[in-house]
Amino acid sequence: MADSGQAVIVALDGPVVRARSPVPFSINEAVEVGDKGLLGEVLRISGEVIVVQVYEDTAGLQVGDRVQGTGQPLSVQLGPWLLGGIFDGLLRPLNDATSAYVHPGRVQRKPQQFHFQPRLQADAGVHGGSVLGDITSPQAKKQLLLAPPQVQGKLVMLAPAGDYPDDEILCKVRQADGGELGIAMTQSWPVRIPRPAAQRLAAHAPLLTGQRLIDVLFPVARGSSAAMPGGFGTGKTILQQSIAKWCDADVIVYVGCGERGNEMAEVLEQFPQIEDPRSHRPLLERSVIIANTSNMPVAAREASIYTGVTVAEYFRDQGLHVALMADSTSRWAEALRELGGRLGELPAEGGYPAYLGSRQAEFYERAALVRTLSGLTGSVTLIGAVSPPGGDFSEPVTLHTQRNVRCFWPLDRDRARARFYPAINPLQAYSDDAASMIGWWQQQGAAEFASQRRRQLELLEEQAHLARMVRIVGKDALPASQQLTLLCADLVNDAFLRQSAYSKIDCFASPQRQIAMLQLLDHFILRARQVLASGADMGHIEHLPVLRRVRRMGEEISEAALPEFKQLQDQIDAEFAELQARSVSTEEAGVS
Ligand SMILES: Nc1ncnc2c1ncn2[C@@H]1O[C@H](COP(=O)(O)OP(=O)(O)OP(=O)(O)O)[C@@H](O)[C@H]1O
Ligand SMILES: [Mg+2]
Repeated sequence: MADSGQAVIVALDGPVVRARSPVPFSINEAVEVGDKGLLGEVLRISGEVIVVQVYEDTAGLQVGDRVQGTGQPLSVQLGPWLLGGIFDGLLRPLNDATSAYVHPGRVQRKPQQFHFQPRLQADAGVHGGSVLGDITSPQAKKQLLLAPPQVQGKLVMLAPAGDYPDDEILCKVRQADGGELGIAMTQSWPVRIPRPAAQRLAAHAPLLTGQRLIDVLFPVARGSSAAMPGGFGTGKTILQQSIAKWCDADVIVYVGCGERGNEMAEVLEQFPQIEDPRSHRPLLERSVIIANTSNMPVAAREASIYTGVTVAEYFRDQGLHVALMADSTSRWAEALRELGGRLGELPAEGGYPAYLGSRQAEFYERAALVRTLSGLTGSVTLIGAVSPPGGDFSEPVTLHTQRNVRCFWPLDRDRARARFYPAINPLQAYSDDAASMIGWWQQQGAAEFASQRRRQLELLEEQAHLARMVRIVGKDALPASQQLTLLCADLVNDAFLRQSAYSKIDCFASPQRQIAMLQLLDHFILRARQVLASGADMGHIEHLPVLRRVRRMGEEISEAALPEFKQLQDQIDAEFAELQARSVSTEEAGVS
């Protein structure tokens, strides 16, 4: 930092500033621009001219103003105060959320008091990830004070238990080179660099979302990534909020890139009112919200998804499972496009810069289940919404996203129009995690999970296949077995995949209820096929009274009433037994 450079602005174009300096800067170095010290980042260096992207409103800057180097890459402050907070793309608090206004320049966050309880003794050896103590506050979850990743040495000072401001040095470590490093609760980390972990682990458990279409058919593993592209109004935001509310992550990071200023204001108004269904306390207490509105500088929006994932990794490193929702990454890509244009870059497809895909990869690659430097297990799961213009999934942002994620949940306009939610199209969706989740479901008691799941997918495929025939010849012209396929596929859709976010009973399904419903439906399908094969009439199967109950089981059988699924199965058996008896006796009558 001693020899950090100083430059003089020679040209201005919105958030992009060019400055001349005889002293070298580094690429991605954070800089302070003008008298107010606006935050910026060096993007390019050519000869003596540096190109800086400024993260704040550049109105008032002039040619001749100074750009001061910091000698550090663009970084954010991370600390226990993050939980429950609402911040801009560089983690500066948005105090008055609805106006989304931040003061320019350096961070003005006021330090907060937290209780610190040391875990180590003076003289202890310390390395990156060593647990130095516990941090508690009345509102937030318990957190850990960890030695920053690069530390290696001996503890020479450790504060006694007590309440401290988050920026106070609580420990000092003498490093191998003899230097001393002070550690406070609040630490800094460069946003574009993934935080290190001891080991990446293979995914073995799902991030449970409580949505059957996702958990059973297209699951996302803890530490994996998913994208939900969907045209205007197809349910991206509602689905992301349902997942945020119900998923079994410890911490939620919500990155909102709003199109219109008021859209984000809505989220900022609504999110604090969401109740955590498990603790009955505000969900915000275990969430971090990063908000970008369209009236905020476009460069901050570009940085915000990296900021979000850095925050997620910070909690992961404390042995927590974190789910990050980004809504919508298309707005982020547009920021990249705008900045690319101002930098004079040659546009590629759709006007986006050629590095759109690699930038997305840098984000989605940070999804991981890891053993942390402290030896704990933690994960970051990334779920991004994409808003393709006109709902066209062949546009560049959707295509690049699809290459970078493991799970793809495209939202279908026709399903949404029919108010069939979540509107994920099961014929286009996929999950690369599905096969490795089967063992987990079997451990939960679903011994036949793999074949039951496969049967559902096959039915949906066959239904799509038969739909064309039905349009040409009509349903009644199909053989009875195919009519049964259509009936069962309808049931899979209506009774299992459909789940309203607004339903009191069905907005969430626990794994046990999902299993009960999956098994019941599968039982119906297998029995119906047997009974049809033994000569029953398709017309009779279609009119079984139990069908109405099966169709509405999600709405009618609550988490507290799981034994009712067994009763429903008994009713299925009884009605099929009667049907079979009837068909046998008609057959006998026919024979005699
Ligand atoms: N899971 C759901 N359950 C019930 N209703 C839903 C669900 N998802 C969406 N809807 C209905 O669809 C409407 C639009 O949903 P949402 O705002 O999530 O769409 P969006 O894709 O985020 O739209 P935009 O493109 O404007 O961002 C909601 O107001 C709600 O009425
Ligand atoms: Mg939306």
